[in-house]
Amino acid sequence: MDDAPSTFPAALPALRTAAREAGFTMSCEERTGSLLAALAAARPGGRVLELGTGVGEGTAWLLSGMDGAARLVTVELDAAVQEVARERLGSDPRVTFVTEDGGRWLEDYAGEPFDLVFADTWPGKFTHLDRALELVAPGGTYLVDDLAPQPGWPEDHAASVERLLAELTARRDFRSVRLAWASGLLMAVRSARP
Ligand SMILES: C[S@@+](CC[C@H](N)C(=O)[O-])C[C@H]1O[C@@H](n2cnc3c(N)ncnc32)[C@H](O)[C@@H]1O
Repeated sequence: MDDAPSTFPAALPALRTAAREAGFTMSCEERTGSLLAALAAARPGGRVLELGTGVGEGTAWLLSGMDGAARLVTVELDAAVQEVARERLGSDPRVTFVTEDGGRWLEDYAGEPFDLVFADTWPGKFTHLDRALELVAPGGTYLVDDLAPQPGWPEDHAASVERLLAELTARRDFRSVRLAWASGLLMAVRSARP
């Protein structure tokens, strides 16, 4: 079976060109993007959070799956990197771009929980994990990628990933599934049971 996606967000080619020009190499891979779009499509009128916008490739995938009533908040520390996404996706009224440290944003956020959280940076994944999980609504999904070992990882990163996997798997209030696919994913769904 060929698992390459067959449908792509319209903005993706321009975002990829901009990423290449900016030397940005951290965008999600296209299989992960296609999963993001499918998970977003499963939430009509849903509330979606992305931690780590990058140049907006994940954002574009999420928006491509969301319906007209769904809303996305995407948080990024690096204004210059996020500007690439703002330029190409900012006219979409469903997305709100926040330029701020993700950890601070998580600490300060006082709004409603989210139906889908793509935690794609340090805060919400390697720090502030409990807070990010707290913001997942019952039945909502938390997704992380880049869990499969890579040659360029810093020395202590594998241990951090192991800790993250263990913490997520141990949570009694989430059902987790590990996907040894794409860059290595874990999807955790908050149990709707009290
Ligand atoms: C893996 S990339 C995001 C890729 C994007 N989600 C996608 O799917 O294409 C991680 C991003 O997190 C940003 N970042 C790093 N530290 C951060 C922090 N403390 N708060 C928010 N964003 C941060 C980086 O600048 C980088 O753009």
